[in-house]
This record gives sequence, structure tokens and C-alpha cells, in this order.
Amino acid sequence: MTSKQNDQYANIGDKYSDFKDTAPLGGPETNTVFKLLGELKGAKVLDLACGHGHYTRLIKQAGAQEVVGSDLSPVMIDLAKEAEAEQPLGITYHVGDASDLPTLGSFDVVSAVWLLNYATTKDELTAMLRGVHRNLAPGGRFVTVTVSPEFDPHGPELDAYGIQVVKDTPYEDRSAVTMDLLGANQTATITTSRWTAAAYAECLEAAGFASYDWRAPEIPEEYVQRFGDAFWNNYRSNPNTGFLVATRTADLEPGAE
Ligand SMILES: C[S@@+](CC[C@H](N)C(=O)[O-])C[C@H]1O[C@@H](n2cnc3c(N)ncnc32)[C@H](O)[C@@H]1O
Repeated sequence: MTSKQNDQYANIGDKYSDFKDTAPLGGPETNTVFKLLGELKGAKVLDLACGHGHYTRLIKQAGAQEVVGSDLSPVMIDLAKEAEAEQPLGITYHVGDASDLPTLGSFDVVSAVWLLNYATTKDELTAMLRGVHRNLAPGGRFVTVTVSPEFDPHGPELDAYGIQVVKDTPYEDRSAVTMDLLGANQTATITTSRWTAAAYAECLEAAGFASYDWRAPEIPEEYVQRFGDAFWNNYRSNPNTGFLVATRTADLEPGAE
């Protein structure tokens, strides 16, 4: 199945918004993403797999100078454009497949919250990472959220945070995890790839990233207070969320080794 045929979000845009807005998992995810994004004031940012613009808008509101959002799903981009029309922030949105990404600019930061987990072959994963590399300025950073290679779909279970695993089908370098995303009002079902750390390393290096690092989620104090410390134990021991930061090496000065 090509990515273009794989628009799982065509029929679940509103259900996904409900999950994103209400599931407890959103707190640690957003907190960690913004810690890793760091200072955004004046930055030029490309947000891939931007969906309905959740992070795209937060990134612009955090002071980024120029923000472009891109997503495979026309339905999700329509939702993002609706939000932009309701409260204009000056964000530009495109429909596009991240595994066939043109050069949209030279960005200080490329973000992609839940993109790489939609690649179903290593060629597709490498193509996505090449597109990211090509769109980064030298020294620019890629901050991404994907299914953690360490995540065990068999538990400890994550239902309390909004994720219920339905099925896990193993393949050579990945497994296909089907899960229900439990919003307060609606449930969306998606299938996503859990790639191994070795597959990520191979594809990152093939795409030109020499420097990359996996990071653990950070649960914000406000969420510890709101839900209680023990509530987070399963998520702490088996987070489905993997955070990856990769840097495009700065170009060498002419004549330097
Ligand atoms: C889980 S949603 C995340 C949306 C947004 N980043 C967020 O965190 O709210 C995943 C998004 O990835 C998009 N997507 C899946 N495969 C893609 C591809 N090959 N290229 C670009 N976007 C893709 C889907 O259309 C969907 O909007």
C-alpha cells in the first residue's frame, strides 16, 4: 500500500481531534515536544504530518517567525485551514506525502509528531527522512515523535491514558500495531508501525543524519498533580511514545576536513 492510499485520517479527523484534546497522554507528549523544540522565537519551522494543525499552531504561537504545515490527508488539512480561518496566525498549509517531499525551504526546525510510524517499508522510512534532511538548514534540527522501539504492545497497558492496543502483527524490522485512540467522546482506530531502533538507525544514516538521540517522555508536574503520581506508573514503564532528535550536520567550510 502506498502512502497516498493510506489516508487513515480521511474518516476520523474529528475523532482524532477529540482524542488529542481530551486523552491524558497529550500532556506528556506536548510537554516533551516543546522541551525538545527549545527556543522557537524567530525560527523557520516545517511541521510535517501536521494533521489538524495542533502543533503547527502552538509552534507559531510560541514565536516562530514562519511556519509551514504539510500532511498527506486533505481532510486534516481542511480542518487545519478552518482553524487558521477562524483565528489567523499566518500559517501556510500544503497537502503532500512526506515520503515524496519537495524542497519547501531551508528550515531551522522540522517537526513531525507521529509521521515515521506510518512508513511501512524501510525505503519509505528513508525517503521520509531524506525529505526532512533536504528541508533542514545546515545545523537545523529534526524533532519527531513516533512509536517507541521499546514499546511493548502486550503491556503494561495504556488504556487509562487513551491508548488501547487491538492487535500487534510482527514483521522483519517492525510490527504493525492496531490501536484504539480513546477520546472522551469518540474512539478512532489506527494502524501504525513500531520500527526497531536498528531500522531507525539504518534509515537515519542513509538519509544523511550522523547525529541523533532518543529521549524519554517527561510528565509535566501539573499532570502528576491532576491525576496523581501512581496513575502514571504504566506509562512510565511502557511509554508508547518515542522522541527522537536528529541534527543536520553544519556544512564544512571550503577546504576544511
Ligand atoms: C496521529 S496524526 C498526528 C497529527 C499531528 N502531528 C498531531 O500530533 O496532532 C498523524 C498524521 O500523519 C499524517 N500522515 C500519515 N502518513 C503521512 C505521509 N506519508 N505524509 C504526510 N503525512 C502523513 C496523517 O494524515 C495524520 O494527519
